[in-house]
Amino acid sequence: MNAKSYDVIVFGATSFVGKLLCRYFASHFNPGELKWAAAGRSIEKLELMRRSLDRRDSEIPLIIADARDERSLAAMCSQTGVVVSTVCPYALYGEPLVKVCVELGTDYCDLSGEAQWIRRMLDRYEKTASKTGARIVHCCGFDSVPSDLGVHFLQKQAFERFGRYCSHIKMRVKAMRGGASGGTIASLVNVAKEAAENPALRRELQNPYLLCPRDHQPKVRQESLSRPQYDSDFEAWLAPFIMAGINTRVVHRSSALLNYPYGEDFRYDEAMLTGAGLRGGMTAYAIAGALGGFIAMTAMAPTRSFLQRFVLPAPSQGPSPRSQAEGFFYLGFLENEREDREIRAQTTGDADPGYGSTSKMLGQVAACLARGGKDNKKGGFWTPATLLGDLLVDALQKHAGLSFTLVDGGKPV
Ligand SMILES: NC(=O)c1ccc[n+]([C@@H]2O[C@H](COP(=O)([O-])OP(=O)(O)OC[C@H]3O[C@@H](n4cnc5c(N)ncnc54)[C@H](OP(=O)(O)O)[C@@H]3O)[C@@H](O)[C@H]2O)c1
Repeated sequence: MNAKSYDVIVFGATSFVGKLLCRYFASHFNPGELKWAAAGRSIEKLELMRRSLDRRDSEIPLIIADARDERSLAAMCSQTGVVVSTVCPYALYGEPLVKVCVELGTDYCDLSGEAQWIRRMLDRYEKTASKTGARIVHCCGFDSVPSDLGVHFLQKQAFERFGRYCSHIKMRVKAMRGGASGGTIASLVNVAKEAAENPALRRELQNPYLLCPRDHQPKVRQESLSRPQYDSDFEAWLAPFIMAGINTRVVHRSSALLNYPYGEDFRYDEAMLTGAGLRGGMTAYAIAGALGGFIAMTAMAPTRSFLQRFVLPAPSQGPSPRSQAEGFFYLGFLENEREDREIRAQTTGDADPGYGSTSKMLGQVAACLARGGKDNKKGGFWTPATLLGDLLVDALQKHAGLSFTLVDGGKPV
């Protein structure tokens, strides 16, 4: 804890996911356990959000700041140890806050899955963060906490069991239920727009080591799994998983930041399981086709604006409370380079991945950071696994409805 007025400020407290995060803080932490405030650009919207919380939370302080006004951001950051931001799309509005946090040495976490923007932030601010002590961590929601920590968990178990780390991990989405919000769609659409206008960026986004240090030398080819195929390890067909584009980059960054403990030839891929037989194959092709169609439509201006106006959710809209409560995710991790040393793990969540679960994950990252994090890590751009590791695994299992377990024959061990 520090001598600032707040441990955490939620910037973007009026966003769809920001409101869920405020509700989580209000219901989960006793007053005094975590000193937090809600921030945004509109006092009316902030007051509306605050009125939606429990009565005992009516005194939660509100702070006005605009994502495009560095002075207001600096005034906000100087009051807190940690800022957590859901203001989006990050590629359009996120940079001034990262800059201010880095300059003031304020810790920062967010839900960005916009790999091209994260690369820009690394190039522009990583050096300064290491000097000022600001600890910056992107991707603290469903992308990419379960993937990053799932790998961390499986590698630790493999080392304890076999005395070595896994050289190839496959992550497979076994089941998942949830929806998307307007902000998520706006962020995805903005990436598609930037990529459509910039061929160099399109190539960059294909690079599995995009978020690794610039001098990283690839030693092995990573599989992208962008087409349907059969996976005999899981005895099922695979369809591309939309989050793989950011999750795999985060997992490789973690490996690089740890100085490649799993080997410089470590391989990691992600896909969705669609079942066995003809039906599984047809589902895999249908998902791949729908995803390809969506990407193509968002890349072209006329179809993009049609989708935004008539089909996709608008900003601040998202899945209903019921669909969040009925949502879940179930991810499988496997390594079997040698069959006698196969090891499998699973990561599950008790609410819909993008909102119910994400708001709890983000809240726990912010709370862990506010408590000092793991081993007092120094300033820089971290990943969830490298910054918080086991501390976050424990916090998520105790307070956020996630589980990380080894499995044998489909059952937890
Ligand atoms: N990593 C994951 O798993 C995951 C999961 C869910 C969401 N996300 C990401 O989280 C982000 C938030 O999504 P969402 O659906 O909650 O967004 P949203 O409801 O559309 O909200 C956007 C927020 O940005 C604020 N904003 C925009 N311009 C601003 C400015 N100039 N100054 C201050 N605030 C400004 C808006 O403020 P007003 O209310 O005043 O308009 C609003 O609070 C998206 O990038 C999404 O992709 C990631």
